[in-house]
Formats: sequence, structure tokens, C-alpha cells
Amino acid sequence: MKRYISYPRVEGDASRQAHADLPPGTYEREISKEGFFGPAAHLYHRHAPTGWIDFEGPLRPHAFDLVKLESAGASPWQAHEILANASVRLRFWRLAQSMPRLARNSDGDELLFVHQGEGELHCDFGHLAFAAGDYILLPRGTMWRLEVRAPVAALLIEATNASYTLPDKGLVGPHAIFDAAMLDVPRMDDAFRAQQSATTRWQVEVKRRGQVSTITYPFNPLDAVGWHGDLTVARINVKDIRPLASHRYHLPPSAHTTFVGSRFVVCTFVPRPFETDPGAIKVPFFHNNDDYDEVIFYHAGNFFSRDNIHPGMVTLHPSGFTHGPHPKALQNMLTQSKAATDEVAVMIDARDALDIAPAAAGVEWRGYVDSWKTPGATK
Ligand SMILES: [Fe+2]
Repeated sequence: MKRYISYPRVEGDASRQAHADLPPGTYEREISKEGFFGPAAHLYHRHAPTGWIDFEGPLRPHAFDLVKLESAGASPWQAHEILANASVRLRFWRLAQSMPRLARNSDGDELLFVHQGEGELHCDFGHLAFAAGDYILLPRGTMWRLEVRAPVAALLIEATNASYTLPDKGLVGPHAIFDAAMLDVPRMDDAFRAQQSATTRWQVEVKRRGQVSTITYPFNPLDAVGWHGDLTVARINVKDIRPLASHRYHLPPSAHTTFVGSRFVVCTFVPRPFETDPGAIKVPFFHNNDDYDEVIFYHAGNFFSRDNIHPGMVTLHPSGFTHGPHPKALQNMLTQSKAATDEVAVMIDARDALDIAPAAAGVEWRGYVDSWKTPGATK
């Protein structure tokens, strides 16, 4: 950590505890460094910082409806690119039938998030069944393919030129928010051995520097009879994530960090109880995520801080864009009618600006910036 100047001060009418006991009638906004880890200040505003009546210029939030994207092909390298920078590449892939060829990513580790569908993964390390809600972590260089039992829609999150690691769990220790022993790994079982003789000719599509090369074998190259080591494919389902929660304090999204890439993190929002302390806020605080571009993929449930968002959508809040709960959600800032959230969402926080790919631009909901407008307010 850098040696920032540290001088917590309190000026004017302010709470001394972030995210709790706000001066009556105020809205809290956080200005911070390093995501939620660096120096920060909390300002208590008379008006919601998203109560604009007009918003012009390029610093806009985006929402993309990936439900509208058709399948682009059976190869993950044909999947629609959505957002990308030099460190992370996000694709959305629909796969109706089993992959006819193997895939290999030589640009970086690939993290698959299975939004819909189920089937079998066959890879260098063996066989692993998968279903909706699974993260499948494929180390760079792994050959793999999916057999589809129910049509698959998946988010592909590439850690470009880097590897995924697990976050430092700090005070709560290594067994939160899932135990590494919960990670399922492929097995060299009967299903894996059966597919080895399924056909005599196989092709592998290798992606390197964004370009695809096709290698043809007169045999199935997924023909290992065994392996040893400490590198393999891993799978964890969102149902196996046990979120951190505090009844007295609204935890920042970083508490839900699931995987760490280079210059980005992947967090998972899963159902958790709302805070019950009367003074604790029960919705996200307003902020500009000044150091990060923030992406959320909505997988399932009702998204408690967002209006007009459905599963299969992606939002992008670029660094510098002030955001917080939508107007309807903001009404529940201090009192929630339900006991718990029921949302499942994947967040990607990227340290560097993300570019929007044409496929995403084609399914953008352009009215998203207006969704924070206070109903009835006019220019
Ligand atoms: Fe945010």
C-alpha cells in the first residue's frame, strides 16, 4: 500500500462512522482511492447526488441487454465481445449444441460464468459436470470443450496475459467466503475415458494475441490417462458462496470479492440479510468509483438497488460517474421491507478504462442515464 496522507477529520454536520448514522435527511457520498481500500471521505449532501435533470457528454453509464444477442457460433472465440481493456476481456457466449472443436486460450486464464444451461466439461484434466451459477476457472493453455445438455449462455472473463488468484481474506481468514475445499475439479472418470474414443479426428482452436489458429489431430488430444500437480480447472457455484454480512454496517462490494485478476477483480453478490441497525444504510452509498470502471452482470433475482434491470443485462459505470441506488430503491435507504436480498450478480471492477465493443453498443439501453432522474423533475 502506498503511504497516503492519513488524517481522518470531521467537518460540519457529519457522521463519524461511514455508512451509518447519517445526519437526518442527508445522502452519503464516498470519494475514495484504490476502490474501497484507500483513503476516503464521506460527504453528507442535502440532495441525492444522482438527482440530475440533465446529463450531457461522454461520461455516461451504460446498460446492455445481452438477452438480445443471438448465438455467434459454437466457438468461444466467436462469442460477442462486450467490454475490454488490456487486462480483462468480457465476452457473452450462447452455445445451443455441443462444441465440435476444442478451445484453448493462450492469451490468459479464462473464467466462465454459466448464466444458463448445463452440460459436461471435458478438458486436459478430465470431466466435470456444470450447471447455471457455476464459475469455471480454466488456466491459460487448457484444452477444453463443452457438451451441452441444456442450451448454455455464459459470460467469459479473460484475465489477459495474467492469472486468477483468490483474494486475501484478511481478518475473516482463508475459509471465507468459500472454502478452497469447495472447489470441484475435473476427474478422469468413465465419462472422460468414453469420450476419448468417441471420434478419431479433432481440431483445437487456439487463441493467441486475439488471433485463432486451428490445429488438427488425427486423434482426440484429450487423451491423458493421468496427471499430477497443483494447477487444474476449478469450479464453484454461487450457491456455495457464503457472503459476509453485518447487521450494523453496510459492507462495500469488496467484501464480496471472489477472484482477483491483474488490474481487475471479480465479485459476486448473492442473497444476504439486510442490515437491521436503525442507523445503518441498507442500500449502496453514492460514489464515483474514482479509480475503477465498474461492470455488473445480473444473473438472477431482483436487483435491490436497481430499477428496470433484468437477468442477462450488464451495466457499466465508468470511473468518475456518480451513482448509487435508483430512486425507487433509495426510498428503502433506512428501512427495507424484506429481510434479505435475493439477487445474484457478478461484478467486474477494472482499474483501467473499458472499451465498449460493437455487439454491446448494438443492444444498449440508451435511456439508462435517465433512470436516476427523480420522477416528476423537469429541466
Ligand atoms: Fe459502484
